[in-house]
Amino acid sequence: MAKGQQLQAPKGVSEYFPDRSNTFEYVRDCLIESAKNSGYQLIELPVFEDTELFKRGVGESTDVVSKEMYTFEDRGGRSITLRPEGTAGVMRSVIEHNLDRGQLPVKVWYSGQFFRAERPQAGRYRQFYQVGIEAIGLDDPEIDVEVIAVADRAFRALGLKNYSLEITSLGDKASRDAYTKVLREYIAKLSLDDETAQRAAINPLRLFDDKREEVKAAMQAAPTLMDYLTPESRESFERVKTLLTALGINYEVNKRMVRGLDYYTGTAFEFVHHGLGAQSGIGGGGRYDGLMAELGGAELSGIGFGIGVDRCVLACESEGISLPSTFTLDLFIVPMSIQTKAQSLLLAERLRESGLKVDIAYGDRSLKGGMKAADKSGARFSIVIGEDELASDLATLKNMKTGDGSSIKISTLHEKLRDYFPETIGDR
Ligand code: HAM
Repeated sequence: MAKGQQLQAPKGVSEYFPDRSNTFEYVRDCLIESAKNSGYQLIELPVFEDTELFKRGVGESTDVVSKEMYTFEDRGGRSITLRPEGTAGVMRSVIEHNLDRGQLPVKVWYSGQFFRAERPQAGRYRQFYQVGIEAIGLDDPEIDVEVIAVADRAFRALGLKNYSLEITSLGDKASRDAYTKVLREYIAKLSLDDETAQRAAINPLRLFDDKREEVKAAMQAAPTLMDYLTPESRESFERVKTLLTALGINYEVNKRMVRGLDYYTGTAFEFVHHGLGAQSGIGGGGRYDGLMAELGGAELSGIGFGIGVDRCVLACESEGISLPSTFTLDLFIVPMSIQTKAQSLLLAERLRESGLKVDIAYGDRSLKGGMKAADKSGARFSIVIGEDELASDLATLKNMKTGDGSSIKISTLHEKLRDYFPETIGDR
């Protein structure tokens, strides 16, 4: 590419810049807040892992592993993959650092970028953001419901209304063994191409989320797992439903939901937003009781979810929800000369140290230009600092909302602002 020529972001990545980045930040923080309110703690993980982790953890029959991974060889010849999802990495870390040796369940949250080489479209990106939680080491319907409730509470806190929750049970091992036998017999009677037959041989459930019309039609009459649940699995699922109802969380049972990753067992769920078109899944998750052992750890169960932050932003926009901005400024300083610029910077730094959010009209602007910048900044107050103001120690503090000005001593600006922002400045 020629020097000086403009570059563009790679195809299919989501980017957020002001002002929309404030919405993104608000939505992400709201999702995280809900997790923290339920006792989940941060786990911060690498965005790339050994490829083997996803092959074994997520499953080779899935689209995610077989078609969508960003895999490359690093300089040491190791096969590395950009994380397509978060659960496998969390389990790797829990096992590696013995986090499961302490009190159970281990409850963690994460947020960040994930990568899938999907065909980009509205709401479907190759780099996207998730906030996720995982609760590891407790096989109890109460924790299943807590996980679902964390997501539902976050969506409600954002003001979302036009969404619904679908749940299913993918059963325990005995349920799935009994069911898989019947499903394999059903699939054996279908005429499938080699690739599909191979996928079905690894995991016959995968045919339920095949997007092709002919496969969808063929699977319409297939038996469903729900009819083969063992009494224990059935009882556990009934308990999940009872508890959801007790919490006032509406749901629909979707017998054909299989989820796109192979590790799921027992309770599985998806939140679907009705204003987003084809990419309607705003979050999903479920139980994964064999994953830890599969990755070389103890026989511990787990459950969690991943919420798509990008899709939540789109969902809020589709419902016309106006979210409070995370960006606020308390004071905007307009310096009027080269000499006052330095003084303004000193003043701004002192106020910033007290916790106030302060910005300055940089560059050599006219008073008019400076005030225009103050207006655009959204700051609550502005102050013009010129030579006269510095000499007399007197300036006008302008309330940007009302337009009212009050004369104050610059040397006491800190104290004056303390009256307006008692929580920020406090007694520092
Ligand atoms: P997932 O259903 O593959 O689950 O992804 C979770 C959410 O991430 C989806 O509901 C969607 O909102 C968002 N998402 C997925 N792919 C894309 C994409 N290409 N573009 C935009 N958003 C996307 C998981 O990833 C599991 N790890 C969730 C989980 C945690 N299960 C148990 N614990």
